[in-house]
Amino acid sequence: MKIIFFSAKSYDRDFFNASNVKFGFTVTFLEVHLNPATAVLARGHEVVCVFVNDVVNWEVIEALKHQGVKLIALRCAGYNNVDLDAGKKYGIRIVRVPAYSPYSVAEHSLALMLTLNRKTHRAYNRVKEGNFALNGLMGFDLHGKIVGLIGLGKIGLITARIMQGFGCRVLGFDKATFPEIEASGITMATLDQLFQQSDIISLHCPLTPETYHLIDADSIAKMKKGMMLINTSRGGLIDTRAVIDALKTEQIGYLGIDVYEEEADLFFEDLSHKVIQDDVFARLLSFNNVLITGHQAFFTSNAMQNIAEITLQNINAFDRRQPLDNEVL
Ligand code: NAI
Repeated sequence: MKIIFFSAKSYDRDFFNASNVKFGFTVTFLEVHLNPATAVLARGHEVVCVFVNDVVNWEVIEALKHQGVKLIALRCAGYNNVDLDAGKKYGIRIVRVPAYSPYSVAEHSLALMLTLNRKTHRAYNRVKEGNFALNGLMGFDLHGKIVGLIGLGKIGLITARIMQGFGCRVLGFDKATFPEIEASGITMATLDQLFQQSDIISLHCPLTPETYHLIDADSIAKMKKGMMLINTSRGGLIDTRAVIDALKTEQIGYLGIDVYEEEADLFFEDLSHKVIQDDVFARLLSFNNVLITGHQAFFTSNAMQNIAEITLQNINAFDRRQPLDNEVL
């Protein structure tokens, strides 16, 4: 099996090379993203391994078919960037890593909440400068606050348990219902109730046509003034311009995001020597109550090890014509 990796970074090489010792696949790592212009590079490889910001649309899948690709292995959970119909049409199977460490993402959501609340990023810089003044650093007790979670799957449920540990009351909304939710002690709510009552809202549902811009001007208008919004799921869940308007009126008091709708042109690269051309993103950066990380919620050593292991197991199952437990259909 020959596998070509797109959007590969040094840490991908390290973890995949270590896991591949027991599989012995022939691997090629490319830094470039997969897109219509780069699909030709897959020639001679049966498997293409991609990440969140690779373009896997109809045109790309058609081109991959012509290069002889038989399997697309996503080394991530979300697959909103993949045209599944094109996969079916061209007979290319698609696998993913449905869970590698939901703890990594849930805990990063907490990191965003705590940093925004207690302003440790600002305190760190102040103390380094010998400034021990507390003005502007006041936070609030999480204990007793109402936290609304949208999406109660693997990450949402872990986030709920962590918040309950802080003494928060957790409201939840999910379009499905399953026994784990019933046993979780989460109070189920309608979306409107969750918007109206939550001091903090954290998004843990996938990006689908139904959830696109779930947070828009209408939903923001229903929220508590000064609430905190956290998004570690997908950028498209949020209408960024509406959120900027709400930050200006202070309807939203804090914003913590690890994902951004137009992140493909920014994240995972060192652009520190360039001028950022995205004015919406630049406006977000200008607020001191906005905390942005560059899609790093998944990025723990535990998660990377699992991602490499499960991706190569998926490919191995395909190679041996075994059932593909992690196929995206
Ligand atoms: P999951 O599949 O276990 O849970 C997602 C939950 O969302 C399910 O319970 C589902 O019923 C619910 N859901 C689906 N559509 C909904 C809707 N319209 N309204 C409300 N709930 C809805 O997924 P998991 O592992 O918990 O991941 C959640 C999301 O986190 C992923 O879709 C992905 O976008 C994001 N993610 C982000 C990472 C990062 O590094 N920032 C890493 C991994 C995942």
